[in-house]
Amino acid sequence: MNSSSNFQLIRPTHVAMIMDGNGRWANSHGRPRHAGHRAGVKAARAVIEACASRQVKVLTLFAFSSENWKRPPGEVDALMRLFVEVLQREVDALHENGIQLRFIGARDSLPTILRKRMADAEARTAANSRMTLVLAVAYGGQWDMVQAVRRIGHKVRAGDLDPADVDESLIDRHRALAGLPAPDLLIRTGGERRISNFLLWDLAYTELHFTDTLWPDFNAEELGAVLDLFGHRQRRFGGVPEQLEAIGD
Ligand code: IPE
Ligand code: IPE
Ligand code: MG
Repeated sequence: MNSSSNFQLIRPTHVAMIMDGNGRWANSHGRPRHAGHRAGVKAARAVIEACASRQVKVLTLFAFSSENWKRPPGEVDALMRLFVEVLQREVDALHENGIQLRFIGARDSLPTILRKRMADAEARTAANSRMTLVLAVAYGGQWDMVQAVRRIGHKVRAGDLDPADVDESLIDRHRALAGLPAPDLLIRTGGERRISNFLLWDLAYTELHFTDTLWPDFNAEELGAVLDLFGHRQRRFGGVPEQLEAIGD
């Protein structure tokens, strides 16, 4: 039985996206890979605006993974430069639109100039509350767990924490996205059906949507269709449908 007909369509509070397919998009247009990444920035801008206007409260975009360091140095360098340039160019508009910026990932591995732009953007937009935009740069879900365990380990060693007190909520408070709700919906463009070391802990009960559309071709219209589909999903979190209806009543 589909209970959604009785209720207003639910909206995701937190949407996460794996923006994949820039290289193939560039190839198919006879252009170098970095042109695909530039085209990807345009798609990201459109998606950020569309999410903000659809009352999404948190949008997390996977921009560069821990494993992307394996790419040819020229591509890595072009991506780092692009991130610096985009932050320089876009932060004013994001700020004016009430968007708070937050970065997750191994910052120490990033160029100093980029780290500075990231810190400036976070400080500048810290008081904004319309939507939080999280950019995952040099991020990996396994890295995230390692940094959480390390910080917890330090507290145990200092005598501030008993190992018996380590539970789901403690780990929750040490993940990179601490303080933000887990994603309700993950969208991956580019046709692959995998997580590629994105948010491993946080995706435990996230609805997954995979589309063959290459990231630079993804737009507000397709996003709207995916959000509408999400509205029809029945999220049981391990329970049974009858319990959901009781909650809905
Ligand atoms: C995603 O697009 C962007 C990054 C990983 C930085 P890709 O560059 O992976 O594009 P494809 O998968 O090769 O088409
Ligand atoms: C995932 O895409 C990472 C980002 C989109 C930033 P990849 O292109 O790196 O993933 P794989 O290598 O196909 O798994
Ligand atoms: Mg890819």
